[in-house]
Amino acid sequence: MGITAAVRRRLGKYEVPAAELYRSVFIDLDSLATTLLSLSTPGRILEIGCGDGAVAERLVGALPEAEYLGIDVMDSPGRLFRGDRGRATFRSVYSHDLRAEEPGLFDLVLVVDVLHHVPPAHRDALLRDAEALLAPGGTLIVKEWERRSDIAHLMAYTADKYVSGDKNVVFGDRDQLLATVTAALPGMSIVCETRVPPKRNNILFALRRTEG
Ligand SMILES: C[S@@+](CC[C@H](N)C(=O)[O-])C[C@H]1O[C@@H](n2cnc3c(N)ncnc32)[C@H](O)[C@@H]1O
Repeated sequence: MGITAAVRRRLGKYEVPAAELYRSVFIDLDSLATTLLSLSTPGRILEIGCGDGAVAERLVGALPEAEYLGIDVMDSPGRLFRGDRGRATFRSVYSHDLRAEEPGLFDLVLVVDVLHHVPPAHRDALLRDAEALLAPGGTLIVKEWERRSDIAHLMAYTADKYVSGDKNVVFGDRDQLLATVTAALPGMSIVCETRVPPKRNNILFALRRTEG
């Protein structure tokens, strides 16, 4: 969930606080970062669908040794990132093209609030790219917004369609998300399933390769 480019341009210097405030209605990104850091202390991080760099900002700030690469299909990913750009790189590239470049492996691969923007038929491929770029012993995070029969979901659905301007979002419920992830990644196991405040719709799966 983000704000459309047209609205952003009009916000000027208020763009960053507005984007943070808007996002905080749906997810506490500091709490998300705390959860991520409890699951992994990565040296190299890849975020597929990094958006403006809100998650990057928190991880790069908390991990002084880490290197971060954020990719997205949007123009100018990481545009609002406020942090050490010597350790954070943002690129507009598809995950399959990055994979073909063989950029090395990453200890932590993140797919945060991205899948519902990806057509269902293309989700497996994105998840397989994520796994292919994961280092041995690394952690893959799939964080999604769960479709639930609640006001929060009605707000999120409306926001994605009419504020962020993606008319094609397709949300799943918890079981559908789990089925998507496990079908795409048969060699991986869920090592953690949790929720991120303030809304129960924020569901997070952490995966590692199954041993043996
Ligand atoms: C709600 S934003 C999340 C951004 C960031 N992960 C965060 O949590 O702040 C979703 C992002 O997914 C990106 N996206 C959609 N389809 C994608 C794809 N196939 N590959 C990579 N990024 C994609 C969109 O451009 C958008 O920036």
